[in-house]
Amino acid sequence: MNRRKFIPRLLMSALGLTFPNALLRAKAPLTLPMEQSEVTFSTEGNEVKCYLRGIPAPTRLLHVTDTHLFMDDERGKLYQPYSGRMAKAYNETIHFETGESTNPEKSFLETISLAKEQKVDLLGLSGDIFSFPSESAIEWVMELLTDSGINYLYTAGNHDWHYEGMKGSLHELRETWIEKRLKPLYQGGHPLMNSQSINGIKFISMDNSLYEITEEQLAYFRKESNTDAKVVLLVHIPLYAPGRSVGYGCGHPEWGAKTDTGFKIEGRERWPEKGHSPITFDFHKEVFQGGKVVAVFAGHVHKQTIDIVNGIPQFLAPPNAMGGFLDVEFLPLGKG
Ligand SMILES: [Fe+2]
Repeated sequence: MNRRKFIPRLLMSALGLTFPNALLRAKAPLTLPMEQSEVTFSTEGNEVKCYLRGIPAPTRLLHVTDTHLFMDDERGKLYQPYSGRMAKAYNETIHFETGESTNPEKSFLETISLAKEQKVDLLGLSGDIFSFPSESAIEWVMELLTDSGINYLYTAGNHDWHYEGMKGSLHELRETWIEKRLKPLYQGGHPLMNSQSINGIKFISMDNSLYEITEEQLAYFRKESNTDAKVVLLVHIPLYAPGRSVGYGCGHPEWGAKTDTGFKIEGRERWPEKGHSPITFDFHKEVFQGGKVVAVFAGHVHKQTIDIVNGIPQFLAPPNAMGGFLDVEFLPLGKG
């Protein structure tokens, strides 16, 4: 067994969640002798299978995050003092599976082709698709998505709207560049919060690219998750899980000015002295203790990881800059 497949299995095994190979390959509705079980997960490599009680049909999600496209043209010249570092950050990458040389543009094209070929129900784009808000890159992505006809839901990452060194608060800069550049990606929906219901699953996207959640977003989350549907959350910054660094910073108790080591190099406002607002902590609590969310999908740290917090898994996809994505199947769970 290769290392990529071995590590998730080791993790699931450590959690007492081992599954036979036949189950990992199963396509038919699953029957388990567990009357109360509502949800069960298995993983192999970058494939995730999730059995959910009560959903009427299989649903396929391709979760894509951290492509870091950096293409630019004449229109970006004015912004080169702010885009230079990130324009060089991911020019050539190593493919997450094959180990061969690749790049963000090639990776994104291959991922879109796969999504189209596999007729996925949803392409979940969870941020840092861009390394900075270049008109040329955003137009390229919009054209690809429109031509493909793929159903998608996009939420921004911290790099999508950020030109390093540009003056302004992070809240102001996010608002400005969403309005100026990223707006078409939201397809008329609210840029900071959106949802789609597919086959008994409500996919909720929340922009937490400032590591924080606003009052309006928390109210939206409460309203949207008050449903009989199974709720799947799509965010850029991973939610705090015990033992993780401040990279898993949404709701992290140590997140704040003291632990912000990147503000100088990233040319941005420092995280607040006081750390998170109570709203962000409330959001974190409601995701993991509210009884509605069945899974969280995030990115940002550029590593494939799984955490299980209060029984709810949080999956981080391998970065799409390296050809990575998560191929997620939600399948009906039958009565035991
Ligand atoms: Fe990223």
